[in-house]
Amino acid sequence: MAFYVTTPIFYANSLPHLGHLYVMIVADAISRSKRQQGIETYFLTGTDEHGINIERAAQRNGRTPKEQADYVVNYFKEMTAAFGLDSAHGGYDVFMRTSEPFHYEGVSELWRRAAAAKTSSGKESIYKGHYEGWFCAACAAYKTEDEYAKPKNEGDPPTCLIHDTNLDRISEESYFFRLSEYAERLLELYESQPGFVFPQSRMNEVKSFVQGGLQDLSVSRMRSSVSWGVPVPGDPNHTMYVWFDALSNYITAIGFGNEERQRVAGFEKYWPALHLVGKDILRFHAVYWPAFLMAAGVELPCGVVAHGMWVDPNGRKLSKTLGNVIELDVLHKHFPVDAVRYFCLREMVFGQDGRFGYEGLIDRANSDLASGLGNLSSRTLTMISRYSEGRIPSGAISEDKLLQAKRSGVDTDETTISGFVETARTQYMQLFDTFAFSRALEVAWSVVARTDKMISEAKPWDLAKDENQKQTLNAVLYRAAETLRWLAVILYPVMPEASREIWTQLGLRESPSEINPANLKWGELQEGTTIGEVKPLFPRIDKVRTMKAIMEDNKVNEPTPEAGSGTHATEADAVAGTQSAGATTPAPPQQHATEAEAVPGVASYIEITDFTKVELRVGEVLTADRIPKADKLLLLSVDVGEDNPRTILAGIAEHYTPEEMVGKKIAVVANLKPRKMRGHDSQGMLLAASVGENDKPVLATFTEDVPNGARLK
Ligand code: MSP
Repeated sequence: MAFYVTTPIFYANSLPHLGHLYVMIVADAISRSKRQQGIETYFLTGTDEHGINIERAAQRNGRTPKEQADYVVNYFKEMTAAFGLDSAHGGYDVFMRTSEPFHYEGVSELWRRAAAAKTSSGKESIYKGHYEGWFCAACAAYKTEDEYAKPKNEGDPPTCLIHDTNLDRISEESYFFRLSEYAERLLELYESQPGFVFPQSRMNEVKSFVQGGLQDLSVSRMRSSVSWGVPVPGDPNHTMYVWFDALSNYITAIGFGNEERQRVAGFEKYWPALHLVGKDILRFHAVYWPAFLMAAGVELPCGVVAHGMWVDPNGRKLSKTLGNVIELDVLHKHFPVDAVRYFCLREMVFGQDGRFGYEGLIDRANSDLASGLGNLSSRTLTMISRYSEGRIPSGAISEDKLLQAKRSGVDTDETTISGFVETARTQYMQLFDTFAFSRALEVAWSVVARTDKMISEAKPWDLAKDENQKQTLNAVLYRAAETLRWLAVILYPVMPEASREIWTQLGLRESPSEINPANLKWGELQEGTTIGEVKPLFPRIDKVRTMKAIMEDNKVNEPTPEAGSGTHATEADAVAGTQSAGATTPAPPQQHATEAEAVPGVASYIEITDFTKVELRVGEVLTADRIPKADKLLLLSVDVGEDNPRTILAGIAEHYTPEEMVGKKIAVVANLKPRKMRGHDSQGMLLAASVGENDKPVLATFTEDVPNGARLK
């Protein structure tokens, strides 16, 4: 039996964040659980590298699209390694890239097969026509009227409801996929396989979308508009629609259309897959993808499972503009990987949206992990080392000691606890198999609570004082240790590191990864086993200190006068700060590329609405002073037309004297979030040109007299 699980392949135009990490963690936990059960498993993740967005980002950065994708892929790979999700750590089997030559071959083969096929009414499945309509580059999708917002001003393009960005008007020759003729077959599929889309509520959405009628789908763009992509077989003037290209990765990765690749991975062996996707891209997976495969005569995936989205603690979407995106390097720096994995699976009720905040993560890590599982493990093992000379004691209580045990509040019938743990294991596995990770973990934690209760009631520290109670004491310690062994096995898919650690501390060999939880038998923990060194599993996280450190790290991502090569604050420096935070910064692929250029995801154009978010004002420098021990900084007070002047720290002291600055009229970014630097609250930023090799700042000033506070537009 084989099992194949996939995550979406992520756009290679921006760096991964918590959302991408989440779906990889879910897929990783599922695949570890399957492997534990002896099922041969293949786990795919990767990057979606073609299309107009990447082409634009590459153009802006003076790179080829492939170089641009390489840059993002490097970062992805570093992050997946840091979070233990790569093959070296027992995670994914393939990091799929759509720029791979074998993918080109495979996807072309799929196209050819679909194009050669006829629909049920005898028409070609793919035909050439003319497309006229609106396209969202960020979604890589054409938009129908109900999917965009009408423009406020006549003549402006409509905007994408998801991204709030302008749509592109497309009017060109295009190949179409005759999706309109697949509605019936799709509905039959949903009828005959009610679990094809999970959860049920998503299945209902998909069904009603298809029932509402399907339009044919434009599946190519003129090469002159989008050149970075797979050419349409037999018509190189056209580039394949990026979703046709991207979705096919799931089969080309395992050798569809390429024999060599087939030998490496095994299409025959692993296909069909279970696709794990965010609800944002469900339609592509549950409607378009099966239709493409039906046309090409390829077996359909076994299912599409849609998860919800992470939002911030206030329920807002995570976005760069709001500054609430959870950066992976910051997350990795401050939290144990297993705490992040646990939080993701415990906090999000699978399928629904979940709130992610650092404080919530710290609270859960402290309560459930440090005080919960971690404490149970260390108190049990410490008592074994203290009262049982570091060896697993016998769990048996002889007839003549039963009464004493009972008097001390210890259940003399061991099956009460073993029964509890066995039932929990079975429930846990069932819940895990139906993606109810949060509830599965609640069940596991009921075992932690039950065992804690057993220990607190039996009071081993009192039992240890009475030689007659030695057997009772041993029985309690054995039960706690055996429960820990079970917990290590069932929790392995969620927390591989912590589970291995419990295992080693219990003095066990092999690995919990190799034990099928279904085969666990109570009592298999061997009496006499010498336990390992007892170490805390999850050190407590100091909330105040950690929150402060995270805020400091996030500040590195904001403009700083000292950051980067220049001596003054510019947006470029700010971006450089983002890139240099943490130890996981990938090297830019080209030597001449500055960090700022190297940032993928920086769009070539911004909208006027983006620009108006920046409040630029005329300011007059009233006072200027040097700051002790900060050679580059000047402390300015600047009148920007408000009741009180602003304090602004500017990294210009090597190029401007305080005397020169006083009386200057300058351009100030007035709505930049204030930040503390060198003990002062800096309440804005000056604008300056960066000149020459040393990035000498030359202040932006005015050639005519302007009132303080006047807005720059
Ligand atoms: N390239 C397409 C997918 C092609 S698959 C053939 C794409 N890429 S993406 O980079 O935008 O990744 C989308 C996926 O990332 C979502 O479906 C989801 O799995 C994950 N997430 C991105 N942001 C997320 C949250 N805020 N919360 C949870 N997961 C999210 O779409």
